[in-house]
Amino acid sequence: MTRTVSGPRQTAAAMWWFVSALTAPAAAIADEIEFMPPYVPTVQDDVDLMLEIGDVGPGDYVVDLGSGDGRIVISAARRGADGHGVEIDPELVEEATRRAEAAGVADRAAFVEGDIFDADISQASVVTLYLYPEVNLALRPRLLSELRPGARVLSNSFDMGDWQPDVHDKTARSSGGILMWVVPADVAGDWQLEVGEDETFALNATQRFQKVSLRLAGDDGMLAVRSARLRGDRLEFVATAGGTRYLFNGRVDDDGIDGMVQVRDGGTVRVHSWHARRAASADARGAR
Ligand SMILES: C[S@@+](CC[C@H](N)C(=O)[O-])C[C@H]1O[C@@H](n2cnc3c(N)ncnc32)[C@H](O)[C@@H]1O
Repeated sequence: MTRTVSGPRQTAAAMWWFVSALTAPAAAIADEIEFMPPYVPTVQDDVDLMLEIGDVGPGDYVVDLGSGDGRIVISAARRGADGHGVEIDPELVEEATRRAEAAGVADRAAFVEGDIFDADISQASVVTLYLYPEVNLALRPRLLSELRPGARVLSNSFDMGDWQPDVHDKTARSSGGILMWVVPADVAGDWQLEVGEDETFALNATQRFQKVSLRLAGDDGMLAVRSARLRGDRLEFVATAGGTRYLFNGRVDDDGIDGMVQVRDGGTVRVHSWHARRAASADARGAR
């Protein structure tokens, strides 16, 4: 393991690491991963960029998987978030703890020795990663199923396979940029949708991660649906039939969606609450 890196050594280590990550066997998933990431810290500018992109601040709980010298969790704590790092190297856990004390944030930034694959991430609002691509892929099912919808996953340089990032900032100093995914709610399947007191629709959703495709049927047939967008637990879409346009915006909560709908018909505008109840679900947020 590359334990201490600075200046040219840091650059060389980062280059070696990047190249070896790209050439590591793609089939290596979970317990078959052959190479675990060595210690190469994220440059501080990119730590700041990562936390800015993730809008990390008070109220957040950040978990850095493979936390190295602790800089991500410490920087998050400086922005008012709580969090902890999980690190397999006990010397790095000690170093991170010392650095948190020196930074005056030891009351909200903790570091524990452990394996990222055993770490409890369920209560995190933000998870940060600077790992290998295949490690990201091995973690992906857990990120999608254990984190709450709306949680942000931030990665230095490496992607999540076919789960496209919501943000990919390539201005970062790190070679692969900074990537962010917002964990999507599970909306796939059939829903019974009610607008106000007396309008009912059948909604069908297919979903691949945050990409959704919707079909909406009313008493008079299919509506044309466009601009469907799922971000975390927020679902919005526009449906039109004849001269009537519905703008749906709602929040998904397990087997229900609640929101507001604006109905425009000629010159008139009505605003109603709407509710959808799950009728049947498909396998949801994409490949797990
Ligand atoms: C590239 S460094 C990233 C450090 C820090 N997150 C950052 O961005 O500055 C990856 C870290 O993951 C740690 N690590 C590797 N495999 C691990 C595992 N299975 N469980 C916990 N930590 C691990 C390494 O010791 C190393 O400190």
